[in-house]
Order: sequence, then C-alpha cells, then structure tokens
Amino acid sequence: MKAPGTHFFCLTASVAARRIRASLMIKKSAQKIVVANWKMHGNLKQNQALLETYIRTLNNLPNTQVVVCAPYPYLAQLQSLLADTDIAWGAQNIARMERGAYTGEVSAEMLRDFGSTYVIIGHSERSTAYCESDENIAQKFMVAKKYGLTPILCVGETLIEREAGMQENVVTKQLDTIIRMYGAQVFAEAVISYEPIWAIGTGLAATPAQATEMHKFIHDKIAALDEAAADRLKILYGGSVNPQNAVQLMVVKNCDGGLIGRCSLNAQEFEQICAAAEQASQFER
Ligand code: PGA
Repeated sequence: MKAPGTHFFCLTASVAARRIRASLMIKKSAQKIVVANWKMHGNLKQNQALLETYIRTLNNLPNTQVVVCAPYPYLAQLQSLLADTDIAWGAQNIARMERGAYTGEVSAEMLRDFGSTYVIIGHSERSTAYCESDENIAQKFMVAKKYGLTPILCVGETLIEREAGMQENVVTKQLDTIIRMYGAQVFAEAVISYEPIWAIGTGLAATPAQATEMHKFIHDKIAALDEAAADRLKILYGGSVNPQNAVQLMVVKNCDGGLIGRCSLNAQEFEQICAAAEQASQFER
C-alpha cells in the first residue's frame, strides 16, 4: 500500500507529466489523439473492467494521447481510476451557459471538478436529436475553452449532402459560425473531428481519399485565416474506425488521430486502434 504522501506525489507528478506531454503534443505535429466515445453505454462494473484493460495496455503510449469520453455519472469513476495514469478523460456534451436555472444541464466547471480535460461538442447524434443550432454549438465550444477544457468539435455531412457534393459547404457553415462569433484563433489548442454522418455507426468508413480531401479542406480553411492556430489545431477522423482501417485513415495527411465509438467498447479492438495511431505517428503529418 502506498503511504498517503506518496499517492499525492504520484498524482501531482502524473498531472505534471501530462501537462508537459500536452505542451509537447502541440509542438510535435506527428503526435496522435485517440478518443473513446462510449456514447450511452456502460455501467460501473463494465467500465471498471474496460478501464483496467485500457490502463494495462494503453498507459504511457509514447506518441498517442488516449482520451475517454464517458456519460456524466461515470466521471468520478474515471477520475479515481485514471488519475494516476497518462490517459485523459472528459464528457460527451456540456451546457452552453456557465451556471444558473437550467434543469438537467451540466456545466464546464462541473466537468473540471471531476478532472476532465476534454469534451465532445456538437456530435451529430446530439445535434440532430436535440436540434442544436450551429450558434449553440459555438457557445459550447467557447465555454469549454474558457474553463480549460479541450473542445472536440464534430463536423461533417449527411449522406444526402455527400451525394450532392455539398460536404465542403456543410463543413464551411459549421466552422464559419464559430469563426464569425469568436475568430479563427480559437482553434489553437482545440480539436476538430471530421465525422461524415453516413459513416458513424454504419460500418462504412470514409475512404482514405475522402478523408484526405476533407482534412486538407479543414486545415487549409483555418490556415488561410490564422496559420498559427491551424498549426496548433488537431484534426481527427471519426466514423466506423476499426482495427482493419485505422492505420490507413490515420496516416492521411493532416489527420491527427481518431474518435472511436463502437470499437472503443471492445478493449482489444481499441488497443489495436491505438497501436495503429502509434504506427501512424511515425509518418509526417
Ligand atoms: P463509430 O462512432 O466509431 O461507432 O462509428 C464514431 C463516433 O462516435 O463519432
């Protein structure tokens, strides 16, 4: 058993190590981020088993930051199991307001209370079901930043929009709302996840060619307005990533990792995807 002081020291040292890694991550462009989006799955017992395997196999990956985004009630569990590790955690949504009479909402500050450092914003499974506007999503993005959370902003087109060749227009509109309200510089130290809606949970991922085109488009759009912000922005791919397609998708130029739904619930598949990210990190961004 660790002496009480030792535990505190380890915790502090591991938080410091994570901060140093986070700052290195920004400078080292090949560093990857792999986010487990558990969606509305899990319970205390299953989570514990899954997290113990994550810790055994994914702690301290040299070139990949692993992040777990869980339902709110499990943030305390993530904090207690992951605090001593290099794996970061967060939630799948936040309120756009800071505090007040908003029944059922959870604020950025509350996520910070449980040690969260990331939050998914504007996932299509939410924005479609709850009619979230681009303006609301932009407000959530900014409130996350204000409280020191890294927002993982999801953008992407539906199948009908893709078939009509409108994918760039759709993503432009999603990004322009944030740019118009807060400026392009807010994308520094943020994460955008390109998630074609037709690829989420369908088993049909984007091809590397389609991902290349969209990642370049997103990167160039931000770079045209603020090159320094584009350099510090991470762009992930999400939508049916699995152990078979992960390397191909993560070596795509301007791809800094993945947002993983279904396969993050299977410890072995998730481990293989993180291994693919490690492999892809050897290539130039
Ligand atoms: P999926 O989910 O990996 O199950 O397609 C991706 C996502 O949540 O964006």
